[in-house]
Amino acid sequence: MATHVSVSMLSLLLLLYNPLAASSLSPSAAVDHHNNINNNNNPDDMASSRSAAFALAALGSAQAALAMGFDAGIFERASASCSSPQLSCHNTTAVQNLCCFNSPGGALLQTQFWDTSPQTGPVDSWTIHGLWPDNCDGTYQANCDADRAYTNITQILQAFGQDDLLSYMQTYWPDYQGNDESFWEHEWAKHGTCISTLDPNCYTNYQPTQEVPDFFNKVVTLFKSLPTYQWLSDAGITPSSSKTYTLSQIQTALSKQHGGQVYIGCASGALDEIWYFYNVKGSVQTGTFVPTDIVGSNGKCPSSGIKYLPKTGSSSPTSTAASSTTTISTGTTPTGTGGSLSGTGYINVLTSGTQKGCLISAGTWYTTGTCATYTATPSSNGFTLKSSKGSCGISNGAFTCGSSVSATVFGTDSSGQDVEFNGSPNFYADSVPSGSTQVTVYTSSSHSTLLQLQWQGK
Ligand SMILES: *[C@@H]1O[C@H](CO)[C@@H](O)[C@H](O)[C@H]1NC(C)=O
Ligand SMILES: *[C@@H]1O[C@H](CO)[C@@H](O)[C@H](O)[C@H]1NC(C)=O
Repeated sequence: MATHVSVSMLSLLLLLYNPLAASSLSPSAAVDHHNNINNNNNPDDMASSRSAAFALAALGSAQAALAMGFDAGIFERASASCSSPQLSCHNTTAVQNLCCFNSPGGALLQTQFWDTSPQTGPVDSWTIHGLWPDNCDGTYQANCDADRAYTNITQILQAFGQDDLLSYMQTYWPDYQGNDESFWEHEWAKHGTCISTLDPNCYTNYQPTQEVPDFFNKVVTLFKSLPTYQWLSDAGITPSSSKTYTLSQIQTALSKQHGGQVYIGCASGALDEIWYFYNVKGSVQTGTFVPTDIVGSNGKCPSSGIKYLPKTGSSSPTSTAASSTTTISTGTTPTGTGGSLSGTGYINVLTSGTQKGCLISAGTWYTTGTCATYTATPSSNGFTLKSSKGSCGISNGAFTCGSSVSATVFGTDSSGQDVEFNGSPNFYADSVPSGSTQVTVYTSSSHSTLLQLQWQGK
């Protein structure tokens, strides 16, 4: 009893002083897979005072439990012990226990790909992109916990005896270039770490990394319940190099099965992504997923003449756990979906998923000045960037633009606008600039502040 209480108190203190608890509570402004950038000047102090209120409320109940002599762990509020949880995005007052209520990412999106070039995954199945926690308004947080950006997803799943899951993932959750491990790492770090109910604080007797098998199992279970290929084919919508379909045919076929309007994505007029939206009653681990309509903007498909191309192109490299481990160590190929950017735009800077300023023309980060206009030009395997100062590149580990800089080829996740270097969306600085200070943006994690660069087209 005594030991148990002191462990609980320790957890409370950790929660109280954990900046990540604050960031997971902060209303986010960030978007990458939606086209609207919502500039929300989010006051961080608001988030931390909420976090403190949460911890104090929990402390109150700890004392109550102690006074009443309860032996039950007050931290048994993960998954299994959520009693009468509320449906995410449907609360009318603040919910304190974010272990039984997903917030701010209360809209959970199971996202799928149809990749024909290179052909990725089975010819008669869509493949998994991920499970994304979006805020209830379509904005979202990303990369919420750098300390849990694990680089050993395969080993973690093996250590938890998840070999069957892993082999299913190798077939249905492949990276289009064969770098499965780094694709899974990216999806976990960028989206999984922002799911509030998967926070280590939500587990009683937390075993390090145990939220990882929970995440990947849930994504796969959801995916299995969303057989897009079958649903389309049941409605007479099958891959063809000549036939085309209307947007409403596709929407009708899928939304009637799912129970909510779906996001339909196209590239060059051909169907390539579907996102299914849910709200959740309880935790992501064991709660009930309730289908819902899309929030945020829909994909860019024409209303008719949509192609659904067969997967008959060149094959992606066959991937095994062993080969993907080899591939990540080289770290030179863009991961994920390899989108490109073009045209003019701004480069916003995000920390913990919240926008704080942008890059100015020299490539440095500024939080109070006017954003520089950058020009993105598609190039082999990605795109190059240029500002009024000249070409932009990674020079001595720093993002720099100038007349003597040689251009670096950057990449992006095709689902959004995150700028990636060598397949990673993570950039770093020594501090968050304030006032008229500018800081340098680096690619090495030896600099303490993790940030993302996000394109906002003009
Ligand atoms: C729902 O709960 C979350 C988490 O406490 C809170 O941030 C949000 O403001 C609440 N929504 C409403 C309408 O009160
Ligand atoms: C995976 O990496 C994490 C942190 O980097 C480490 O704590 C854990 O022990 C590793 N797990 C396995 C199974 O190697």
